[in-house]
Amino acid sequence: MKIGIDKIGFYTPHLYVDMNELANARGVEPEKFTVGIGQSQMAVTPITQDAVSLAANAALHIIDEEDKEKIDLVIFGTESGIDHSKSAAVYVHHLLGINPQARCIEAKQACYGATAAIQLAKGHIALHPESKVLVLGADIARYGLNTPGESTQGAGAVALLISAEPRILALEEKSAYFTADIMDFWRPIYSDIAFVDGKFSNEQYIWFFNKVWEQYQEKTDLTLNDINAICYHLPYTKMGLKALRTIIEQASEEQKEQLLSNYQISTAYNRNVGNIYTGALYLSLLSLLEQNKDLKDGSRIGLYSYGSGAVGEFFTGILQPNFKEHLNKEQHTSLFASRKQISIEAYEEIFEEELPTDGSTTELDITQDPAPICLAGISDNMRQYVNKLTK
Ligand code: CAA
Repeated sequence: MKIGIDKIGFYTPHLYVDMNELANARGVEPEKFTVGIGQSQMAVTPITQDAVSLAANAALHIIDEEDKEKIDLVIFGTESGIDHSKSAAVYVHHLLGINPQARCIEAKQACYGATAAIQLAKGHIALHPESKVLVLGADIARYGLNTPGESTQGAGAVALLISAEPRILALEEKSAYFTADIMDFWRPIYSDIAFVDGKFSNEQYIWFFNKVWEQYQEKTDLTLNDINAICYHLPYTKMGLKALRTIIEQASEEQKEQLLSNYQISTAYNRNVGNIYTGALYLSLLSLLEQNKDLKDGSRIGLYSYGSGAVGEFFTGILQPNFKEHLNKEQHTSLFASRKQISIEAYEEIFEEELPTDGSTTELDITQDPAPICLAGISDNMRQYVNKLTK
Protein backbone atom coordinates (compact mmCIF):
# COMPACT_ATOMS: atom_id res chain seq x y z
CA MET A 1 0.00 0.00 0.00
CA LYS A 2 1.25 3.47 -0.87
CA ILE A 3 1.01 6.18 1.80
CA GLY A 4 1.76 9.86 1.32
CA ILE A 5 0.61 13.35 0.45
CA ASP A 6 -2.81 13.46 -1.17
CA LYS A 7 -3.42 17.21 -1.05
CA ILE A 8 -1.39 20.33 -0.16
CA GLY A 9 -2.79 23.66 1.00
CA PHE A 10 -0.89 26.87 1.70
CA TYR A 11 -1.61 30.25 3.24
CA THR A 12 0.45 33.34 3.97
CA PRO A 13 -0.73 36.71 5.40
CA HIS A 14 -1.78 39.42 2.95
CA LEU A 15 0.99 41.86 3.92
CA TYR A 16 4.67 41.87 3.01
CA VAL A 17 7.75 44.09 2.91
CA ASP A 18 10.26 44.32 0.10
CA MET A 19 13.75 43.20 1.14
CA ASN A 20 15.43 46.05 -0.76
CA GLU A 21 13.48 48.50 1.38
CA LEU A 22 14.31 46.61 4.56
CA ALA A 23 18.01 46.64 3.63
CA ASN A 24 17.91 50.40 2.96
CA ALA A 25 16.21 50.99 6.30
CA ARG A 26 18.83 48.89 8.11
CA GLY A 27 21.78 50.48 6.29
CA VAL A 28 23.00 47.33 4.55
CA GLU A 29 23.50 46.67 0.83
CA PRO A 30 20.27 45.25 -0.65
CA GLU A 31 22.27 42.40 -2.26
CA LYS A 32 23.09 41.08 1.19
CA PHE A 33 19.41 40.23 1.66
CA THR A 34 18.41 39.47 -1.95
CA VAL A 35 21.55 37.50 -2.93
CA GLY A 36 23.52 36.66 0.23
CA ILE A 37 20.41 35.57 2.17
CA GLY A 38 18.33 34.99 -0.97
CA GLN A 39 15.06 36.64 0.02
CA SER A 40 12.99 39.10 -2.07
CA GLN A 41 9.94 39.67 0.12
CA MET A 42 8.99 38.92 3.73
CA ALA A 43 5.47 38.16 4.91
CA VAL A 44 4.20 40.36 7.75
CA THR A 45 1.53 39.02 10.10
CA PRO A 46 -1.30 41.35 11.10
CA ILE A 47 -2.56 41.00 14.67
CA THR A 48 -5.68 39.32 13.23
CA GLN A 49 -3.65 36.20 12.28
CA ASP A 50 -1.85 33.67 14.45
CA ALA A 51 -0.60 30.11 13.97
CA VAL A 52 -4.13 28.72 14.38
CA SER A 53 -5.80 31.00 11.84
CA LEU A 54 -2.93 30.65 9.36
CA ALA A 55 -3.21 26.86 9.50
CA ALA A 56 -7.00 26.90 9.26
CA ASN A 57 -6.77 29.16 6.19
CA ALA A 58 -4.22 26.81 4.61
CA ALA A 59 -6.46 23.77 5.15
CA LEU A 60 -9.74 25.46 4.22
CA HIS A 61 -9.32 25.07 0.47
CA ILE A 62 -8.19 21.45 0.43
CA ILE A 63 -10.59 19.75 2.84
CA ASP A 64 -13.91 18.56 1.40
CA GLU A 65 -16.91 16.96 3.09
CA GLU A 66 -15.57 13.43 2.57
CA ASP A 67 -12.23 14.40 4.14
CA LYS A 68 -14.03 15.88 7.15
CA GLU A 69 -15.65 12.51 7.74
CA LYS A 70 -12.50 10.45 7.17
CA ILE A 71 -9.93 12.52 9.06
CA ASP A 72 -9.48 10.86 12.45
CA LEU A 73 -6.18 12.46 13.41
CA VAL A 74 -5.07 16.11 13.24
CA ILE A 75 -1.44 16.85 14.08
CA PHE A 76 -0.35 20.46 14.26
CA GLY A 77 3.39 21.07 14.02
CA THR A 78 4.28 24.51 15.33
CA GLU A 79 6.76 26.48 17.42
CA SER A 80 4.41 29.49 17.55
CA GLY A 81 1.78 27.80 19.70
CA ILE A 82 -0.81 29.99 21.40
CA ASP A 83 -1.29 27.87 24.53
CA HIS A 84 1.01 25.75 26.68
CA SER A 85 -1.81 23.31 27.36
CA LYS A 86 -4.51 23.13 24.71
CA SER A 87 -3.30 22.03 21.30
CA ALA A 88 -3.67 24.30 18.28
CA ALA A 89 -5.06 21.26 16.44
CA VAL A 90 -8.30 21.35 18.48
CA TYR A 91 -9.02 24.92 17.33
CA VAL A 92 -8.46 24.03 13.68
CA HIS A 93 -10.49 20.84 14.03
CA HIS A 94 -13.42 23.00 15.17
CA LEU A 95 -12.92 25.81 12.63
CA LEU A 96 -12.94 23.31 9.76
CA GLY A 97 -15.86 21.23 11.04
CA ILE A 98 -13.97 17.93 11.16
CA ASN A 99 -15.92 15.01 12.62
CA PRO A 100 -15.60 14.67 16.42
CA GLN A 101 -14.29 11.10 16.31
CA ALA A 102 -10.75 12.32 15.80
CA ARG A 103 -7.55 12.71 17.79
CA CYS A 104 -5.97 16.17 17.93
CA ILE A 105 -2.46 16.93 19.10
CA GLU A 106 0.34 19.48 18.73
CA ALA A 107 3.86 18.33 17.78
CA LYS A 108 6.90 20.38 18.74
CA GLN A 109 10.53 20.10 17.74
CA ALA A 110 11.29 23.47 16.15
CA CYS A 111 10.99 23.36 12.36
CA TYR A 112 10.90 19.55 12.38
CA GLY A 113 7.35 19.40 13.88
CA ALA A 114 5.44 18.88 10.63
CA THR A 115 7.87 16.19 9.48
CA ALA A 116 7.40 14.33 12.76
CA ALA A 117 3.65 14.65 12.16
CA ILE A 118 3.94 13.20 8.65
CA GLN A 119 5.95 10.22 9.87
CA LEU A 120 3.43 9.57 12.67
CA ALA A 121 0.61 9.90 10.13
CA LYS A 122 2.32 7.34 7.90
CA GLY A 123 2.30 4.77 10.73
CA HIS A 124 -1.32 5.59 11.57
CA ILE A 125 -2.47 5.08 7.96
CA ALA A 126 -0.51 1.81 7.74
CA LEU A 127 -2.68 0.54 10.64
CA HIS A 128 -5.90 2.21 9.46
CA PRO A 129 -5.80 2.46 5.65
CA GLU A 130 -9.31 3.97 5.44
CA SER A 131 -8.49 6.95 7.59
CA LYS A 132 -6.93 10.27 6.62
CA VAL A 133 -4.65 12.49 8.67
CA LEU A 134 -4.51 16.27 8.51
CA VAL A 135 -0.98 17.54 9.13
CA LEU A 136 -0.54 21.26 9.73
CA GLY A 137 2.65 23.29 9.88
CA ALA A 138 2.15 26.95 10.75
CA ASP A 139 4.48 29.54 12.21
CA ILE A 140 5.36 33.17 12.57
CA ALA A 141 9.15 33.60 12.55
CA ARG A 142 10.18 36.47 14.82
CA TYR A 143 13.73 37.50 15.73
CA GLY A 144 13.15 41.17 16.48
CA LEU A 145 13.62 44.51 14.75
CA ASN A 146 17.22 45.40 13.83
CA THR A 147 18.57 41.94 14.66
CA PRO A 148 20.75 39.76 12.35
CA GLY A 149 17.85 37.31 12.10
CA GLU A 150 15.33 39.97 11.04
CA SER A 151 15.86 39.36 7.31
CA THR A 152 14.96 35.69 7.86
CA GLN A 153 11.53 36.29 9.40
CA GLY A 154 8.28 35.34 7.67
CA ALA A 155 4.90 33.73 8.29
CA GLY A 156 2.64 31.14 6.77
CA ALA A 157 1.17 27.68 6.94
CA VAL A 158 0.91 24.47 4.98
CA ALA A 159 -1.76 21.83 5.32
CA LEU A 160 -1.09 18.30 4.11
CA LEU A 161 -3.68 15.58 3.78
CA ILE A 162 -1.97 12.22 4.33
CA SER A 163 -3.73 9.12 3.06
CA ALA A 164 -3.37 5.71 1.47
CA GLU A 165 -3.04 5.72 -2.33
CA PRO A 166 -2.08 9.43 -2.31
CA ARG A 167 -2.49 11.43 -5.50
CA ILE A 168 0.58 13.68 -5.19
CA LEU A 169 3.59 12.06 -3.47
CA ALA A 170 3.96 8.49 -2.18
CA LEU A 171 6.50 8.39 0.66
CA GLU A 172 9.15 5.71 0.38
CA GLU A 173 9.67 3.42 3.31
CA LYS A 174 13.23 4.18 4.32
CA SER A 175 14.23 7.35 6.04
CA ALA A 176 17.34 8.57 7.88
CA TYR A 177 17.15 10.67 11.05
CA PHE A 178 19.48 12.08 13.67
CA THR A 179 19.21 13.89 17.01
CA ALA A 180 21.79 15.81 19.07
CA ASP A 181 21.21 18.20 21.98
CA ILE A 182 22.57 21.55 20.76
CA MET A 183 21.69 25.20 21.37
CA ASP A 184 21.64 26.75 17.90
CA PHE A 185 18.15 28.29 18.02
CA TRP A 186 15.53 28.21 20.79
CA ARG A 187 12.69 30.22 22.29
CA PRO A 188 12.19 30.08 26.07
CA ILE A 189 8.54 30.11 27.11
CA TYR A 190 8.75 33.69 28.35
CA SER A 191 9.95 35.10 25.05
CA ASP A 192 8.02 35.99 21.90
CA ILE A 193 11.21 36.21 19.85
CA ALA A 194 13.68 33.44 19.06
CA PHE A 195 17.23 33.29 20.43
CA VAL A 196 19.77 32.13 17.90
CA ASP A 197 23.46 31.52 17.41
CA GLY A 198 23.28 32.32 13.70
CA LYS A 199 26.59 31.04 12.35
CA PHE A 200 26.47 27.94 14.56
CA SER A 201 22.92 27.20 13.36
CA ASN A 202 24.08 27.34 9.73
CA GLU A 203 26.93 24.93 10.47
CA GLN A 204 24.68 22.51 12.36
CA TYR A 205 22.07 22.53 9.58
CA ILE A 206 24.77 21.39 7.15
CA TRP A 207 26.35 18.94 9.58
CA PHE A 208 22.98 17.27 10.23
CA PHE A 209 22.30 17.20 6.48
CA ASN A 210 25.58 15.41 5.81
CA LYS A 211 24.88 12.94 8.63
CA VAL A 212 21.41 11.96 7.41
CA TRP A 213 22.38 11.96 3.74
CA GLU A 214 25.21 9.50 4.47
CA GLN A 215 22.90 7.34 6.59
CA TYR A 216 20.22 7.42 3.91
CA GLN A 217 22.63 6.14 1.26
CA GLU A 218 23.75 3.31 3.54
CA LYS A 219 20.14 2.31 4.27
CA THR A 220 18.93 2.41 0.66
CA ASP A 221 21.93 1.89 -1.64
CA LEU A 222 20.64 4.88 -3.60
CA THR A 223 22.97 7.65 -4.80
CA LEU A 224 22.50 11.29 -5.71
CA ASN A 225 21.95 10.20 -9.32
CA ASP A 226 18.75 8.40 -8.25
CA ILE A 227 17.09 11.58 -6.97
CA ASN A 228 15.52 14.12 -9.35
CA ALA A 229 15.23 17.01 -6.90
CA ILE A 230 15.98 17.74 -3.25
CA CYS A 231 13.75 20.10 -1.30
CA TYR A 232 15.21 21.62 1.84
CA HIS A 233 13.94 23.20 4.99
CA LEU A 234 14.46 26.83 3.99
CA PRO A 235 15.04 29.31 6.83
CA TYR A 236 16.21 31.49 3.92
CA THR A 237 16.74 30.34 0.35
CA LYS A 238 20.55 30.43 0.38
CA MET A 239 20.69 27.91 3.25
CA GLY A 240 19.58 24.84 1.28
CA LEU A 241 21.98 25.73 -1.51
CA LYS A 242 24.89 25.74 0.92
CA ALA A 243 23.90 22.20 1.98
CA LEU A 244 23.35 20.97 -1.59
CA ARG A 245 26.78 22.27 -2.60
CA THR A 246 28.44 19.99 -0.02
CA ILE A 247 27.27 16.88 -1.91
CA ILE A 248 26.78 18.07 -5.49
CA GLU A 249 30.12 16.64 -6.69
CA GLN A 250 28.69 13.15 -6.04
CA ALA A 251 26.36 13.63 -9.06
CA SER A 252 26.99 13.17 -12.77
CA GLU A 253 27.33 16.37 -14.85
CA GLU A 254 23.78 16.11 -16.20
CA GLN A 255 22.42 15.33 -12.77
CA LYS A 256 24.22 18.33 -11.23
CA GLU A 257 22.40 20.60 -13.66
CA GLN A 258 19.04 19.00 -12.88
CA LEU A 259 19.51 19.25 -9.11
CA LEU A 260 20.69 22.86 -9.18
CA SER A 261 17.92 23.95 -11.52
CA ASN A 262 15.27 22.17 -9.45
CA TYR A 263 16.75 23.74 -6.33
CA GLN A 264 16.18 27.22 -7.74
CA ILE A 265 12.59 26.38 -8.67
CA SER A 266 11.95 24.88 -5.23
CA THR A 267 12.81 28.20 -3.58
CA ALA A 268 10.37 30.36 -5.59
CA TYR A 269 7.59 30.66 -3.00
CA ASN A 270 9.90 30.74 0.04
CA ARG A 271 11.84 33.64 -1.50
CA ASN A 272 8.68 35.75 -1.31
CA VAL A 273 7.38 34.58 2.05
CA GLY A 274 10.40 34.12 4.31
CA ASN A 275 10.87 31.48 6.96
CA ILE A 276 7.69 29.70 8.01
CA TYR A 277 9.59 27.25 10.26
CA THR A 278 7.55 23.98 10.31
CA GLY A 279 5.99 24.60 6.92
CA ALA A 280 9.13 25.83 5.12
CA LEU A 281 10.19 22.45 3.68
CA TYR A 282 6.68 21.77 2.39
CA LEU A 283 6.38 25.26 0.90
CA SER A 284 9.57 24.44 -0.98
CA LEU A 285 8.03 21.16 -2.19
CA LEU A 286 4.95 23.10 -3.30
CA SER A 287 7.13 25.58 -5.24
CA LEU A 288 8.85 22.74 -7.03
CA LEU A 289 5.64 20.90 -7.91
CA GLU A 290 3.71 23.97 -9.02
CA GLN A 291 6.50 25.88 -10.75
CA ASN A 292 8.46 23.15 -12.56
CA LYS A 293 6.68 22.44 -15.84
CA ASP A 294 8.99 19.54 -16.75
CA LEU A 295 8.77 17.47 -13.59
CA LYS A 296 7.57 13.99 -14.51
CA ASP A 297 5.38 11.43 -12.77
CA GLY A 298 7.60 8.82 -11.15
CA SER A 299 10.33 11.33 -10.21
CA ARG A 300 11.97 10.75 -6.86
CA ILE A 301 12.00 13.84 -4.60
CA GLY A 302 14.35 14.05 -1.61
CA LEU A 303 13.25 16.03 1.45
CA TYR A 304 15.59 17.37 4.12
CA SER A 305 13.92 18.45 7.33
CA TYR A 306 15.84 20.28 10.07
CA GLY A 307 14.52 21.43 13.42
CA SER A 308 16.97 23.31 15.59
CA GLY A 309 17.88 21.90 18.93
CA ALA A 310 18.16 19.59 16.90
CA VAL A 311 16.61 16.83 14.79
CA GLY A 312 17.33 16.23 11.11
CA GLU A 313 15.71 13.78 8.70
CA PHE A 314 16.17 12.87 5.06
CA PHE A 315 13.41 10.96 3.29
CA THR A 316 12.06 10.55 -0.21
CA GLY A 317 8.81 10.29 -2.13
CA ILE A 318 7.72 9.34 -5.64
CA LEU A 319 5.52 11.67 -7.67
CA GLN A 320 2.26 9.98 -8.56
CA PRO A 321 0.56 9.77 -11.99
CA ASN A 322 -1.07 13.09 -12.95
CA PHE A 323 -0.01 14.71 -9.66
CA LYS A 324 -0.26 18.15 -11.30
CA GLU A 325 -4.04 17.81 -11.55
CA HIS A 326 -4.27 17.65 -7.77
CA LEU A 327 -2.40 20.88 -7.01
CA ASN A 328 -3.98 24.31 -6.47
CA LYS A 329 -1.56 26.39 -8.48
CA GLU A 330 -4.09 29.02 -9.58
CA GLN A 331 -5.24 29.65 -6.05
CA HIS A 332 -1.67 30.11 -4.86
CA THR A 333 -0.86 32.43 -7.77
CA SER A 334 -3.82 34.62 -6.87
CA LEU A 335 -2.91 34.51 -3.16
CA PHE A 336 0.54 35.95 -4.00
CA ALA A 337 -0.92 38.46 -6.48
CA SER A 338 -3.44 39.82 -3.98
CA ARG A 339 -0.89 40.59 -1.27
CA LYS A 340 -0.19 44.20 -0.31
CA GLN A 341 3.27 45.70 0.11
CA ILE A 342 3.66 47.85 3.22
CA SER A 343 6.32 50.33 4.29
CA ILE A 344 9.04 49.50 6.82
CA GLU A 345 7.39 51.92 9.28
CA ALA A 346 4.06 50.09 8.96
CA TYR A 347 5.82 46.71 9.41
CA GLU A 348 7.58 47.95 12.56
CA GLU A 349 4.30 49.17 13.99
CA ILE A 350 2.59 45.83 13.30
CA PHE A 351 5.57 43.95 14.76
CA GLU A 352 5.21 45.79 18.08
CA GLU A 353 1.44 45.23 18.41
CA GLU A 354 0.43 42.90 21.23
CA LEU A 355 -2.70 41.20 22.50
CA PRO A 356 -3.62 41.92 26.13
CA THR A 357 -2.32 39.45 28.71
CA ASP A 358 -4.37 40.74 31.68
CA GLY A 359 -7.66 39.06 30.84
CA SER A 360 -9.22 42.21 29.39
CA THR A 361 -11.42 42.07 26.32
CA THR A 362 -10.20 43.30 22.95
CA GLU A 363 -12.08 43.24 19.68
CA LEU A 364 -9.87 43.34 16.61
CA ASP A 365 -10.83 44.96 13.31
CA ILE A 366 -10.95 42.01 10.91
CA THR A 367 -12.46 44.00 8.04
CA GLN A 368 -8.95 44.92 6.85
CA ASP A 369 -7.83 41.27 6.75
CA PRO A 370 -9.00 39.43 3.60
CA ALA A 371 -8.38 35.99 5.15
CA PRO A 372 -11.53 33.88 5.54
CA ILE A 373 -10.48 32.85 9.05
CA CYS A 374 -9.27 35.54 11.43
CA LEU A 375 -8.50 36.12 15.07
CA ALA A 376 -11.32 38.51 15.97
CA GLY A 377 -10.31 39.27 19.53
CA ILE A 378 -9.61 37.98 22.98
CA SER A 379 -11.83 37.87 26.02
CA ASP A 380 -11.32 36.23 29.44
CA ASN A 381 -7.93 35.03 28.13
CA MET A 382 -9.67 33.09 25.34
CA ARG A 383 -8.89 33.76 21.69
CA GLN A 384 -11.97 34.34 19.54
CA TYR A 385 -11.77 33.15 15.93
CA VAL A 386 -14.18 33.93 13.12
CA ASN A 387 -14.72 32.07 9.88
CA LYS A 388 -16.22 34.75 7.64
CA LEU A 389 -17.51 32.07 5.25
CA THR A 390 -19.78 30.50 7.84
CA LYS A 391 -20.66 33.58 9.91
N1 CAA B 1 26.20 41.14 -1.74
C1 CAA B 1 26.04 39.78 -1.79
N2 CAA B 1 26.16 38.98 -0.69
C2 CAA B 1 26.43 39.58 0.49
C3 CAA B 1 26.61 40.97 0.61
C4 CAA B 1 26.48 41.76 -0.57
N3 CAA B 1 26.63 43.09 -0.55
N4 CAA B 1 26.88 41.24 1.91
C5 CAA B 1 26.87 40.05 2.57
N5 CAA B 1 26.58 39.06 1.72
C6 CAA B 1 26.46 37.63 2.01
C7 CAA B 1 27.50 37.07 2.95
O1 CAA B 1 28.71 36.79 2.29
C8 CAA B 1 26.78 35.83 3.46
O2 CAA B 1 26.84 34.82 2.47
P1 CAA B 1 27.52 33.41 2.78
O3 CAA B 1 26.85 32.90 4.04
O4 CAA B 1 27.19 32.58 1.59
O5 CAA B 1 28.96 33.68 2.99
C9 CAA B 1 25.32 36.26 3.52
O6 CAA B 1 25.22 37.45 2.70
C10 CAA B 1 24.84 36.62 4.91
O7 CAA B 1 25.76 37.51 5.47
P2 CAA B 1 26.23 37.36 6.98
O8 CAA B 1 26.63 35.95 7.25
O9 CAA B 1 27.19 38.42 7.30
O10 CAA B 1 24.82 37.67 7.67
P3 CAA B 1 24.47 37.82 9.18
O11 CAA B 1 25.52 37.25 10.05
O12 CAA B 1 24.07 39.23 9.41
O13 CAA B 1 23.14 36.92 9.31
C11 CAA B 1 22.22 34.72 9.54
C12 CAA B 1 22.91 35.71 8.62
C13 CAA B 1 23.22 34.17 10.54
C14 CAA B 1 21.64 33.59 8.71
C15 CAA B 1 21.07 35.46 10.30
O14 CAA B 1 20.14 35.97 9.40
C16 CAA B 1 20.36 34.58 11.31
O15 CAA B 1 20.80 34.40 12.44
N6 CAA B 1 19.17 33.99 10.91
C17 CAA B 1 18.40 33.11 11.78
C18 CAA B 1 19.02 31.76 11.96
C19 CAA B 1 18.89 30.86 10.74
O16 CAA B 1 18.07 31.06 9.88
N7 CAA B 1 19.70 29.80 10.71
C20 CAA B 1 19.63 28.82 9.65
C21 CAA B 1 19.96 27.45 10.12
S1 CAA B 1 18.93 27.00 11.54
C22 CAA B 1 17.43 26.51 10.85
O17 CAA B 1 17.36 26.24 9.71
C23 CAA B 1 16.23 26.48 11.73
C24 CAA B 1 15.42 27.69 11.50
O18 CAA B 1 14.50 27.68 10.68
C25 CAA B 1 15.71 28.88 12.28
